[in-house]
Amino acid sequence: MDLNNEFRPEPAVITKVIIESPNTKTFSIQYKDKGLQKKFFFLPGKFVSVSVFGYGEMPVSISSSPYKTDSFNLTVMDVGKITHAMHQLKKGDLIGVRGPFGKGYPLNRFRKKNVVVIAGGCGFAPVGSGLRGLLQKREHFGDLYLLYGAGSAEEFLFKNDLKKWQESKNITVKLAADKKSKGWLCHDGFVTDLITKTKFPAKNTVAMICGPPVMIDTAIAKLNKKGIKDENIFISMERLMHCGVGKCGHCNIGKSYMCVQGPVLSAKELKELPREK
Ligand SMILES: Cc1cc2nc3c(=O)[nH]c(=O)nc-3n(C[C@H](O)[C@H](O)[C@H](O)COP(=O)(O)OP(=O)(O)OC[C@H]3O[C@@H](n4cnc5c(N)ncnc54)[C@H](O)[C@@H]3O)c2cc1C
Ligand code: FES
Repeated sequence: MDLNNEFRPEPAVITKVIIESPNTKTFSIQYKDKGLQKKFFFLPGKFVSVSVFGYGEMPVSISSSPYKTDSFNLTVMDVGKITHAMHQLKKGDLIGVRGPFGKGYPLNRFRKKNVVVIAGGCGFAPVGSGLRGLLQKREHFGDLYLLYGAGSAEEFLFKNDLKKWQESKNITVKLAADKKSKGWLCHDGFVTDLITKTKFPAKNTVAMICGPPVMIDTAIAKLNKKGIKDENIFISMERLMHCGVGKCGHCNIGKSYMCVQGPVLSAKELKELPREK
């Protein structure tokens, strides 16, 4: 749950801005109150509500490792009013932060298992946090796979980390881009194609997914076909959210509030929810 009052944004400072792609930036954030920063703990997949003063508040996943405690990162794609206003902010500017909220990926249940991380576009932010956590505690997990896709290689997030992970023996990295991409060894097509093309064991394997809704059903179906059961597949359902604490009714699917019961659900839990038209 939150660190202080779940309805009151706490002031936090932008300490660094990294340009990830033409429309996405990563902001390193530190609470002004050092005591709050010290207590900040989250599971990957959890989100914070970010106030961009004068523009509004929006939910954003935490993209840094859960083991990084001196600051945390938010990776934001410029898609509209609030995200665009956030993109104008610089090092030293203030934002408001509530949270972290929701349920994250259950990393403790992944111990001793192989983990397949599947990310599409900006969905790399929350699963990227999970992946950083897995790599930091590498000895506790089996084989690691990252399958990541975007519209073009130019849109890839965390490019420096991607290059490093591609060269590492600790993880198998497969990339996909819808458009032909120079300088990157990429599958020309969808990230979900990589599920079929990549060899990984079904036994003792879990999957961590985040991406656009259209990717999710296909990814689950392909993982099922490979023998991975619904209870071992975890997805972040990033619905429209407002309060983040189960009060406003903006985020429900049927009777479930995604800000509280989600955003991370197993495919088994997801299939039990009423389908959206
Ligand atoms: C749990 C969760 C985690 C998220 N994590 C990230 C993240 O790590 N990085 C990131 O860039 N974005 C993330 N988002 C999406 C982000 O909240 C929206 O892009 C943002 O609220 C858009 O606000 P805006 O005023 O800039 O755009 P608007 O002008 O309001 O809308 C622009 C577009 O964004 C969509 N949108 C608007 N509000 C939301 C919303 N609350 N959730 C989803 N889509 C929305 C609209 O349908 C529209 O297509 C997350 C959303 C949720 C629910
Ligand atoms: S965001 Fe308000 S109930 Fe979920």
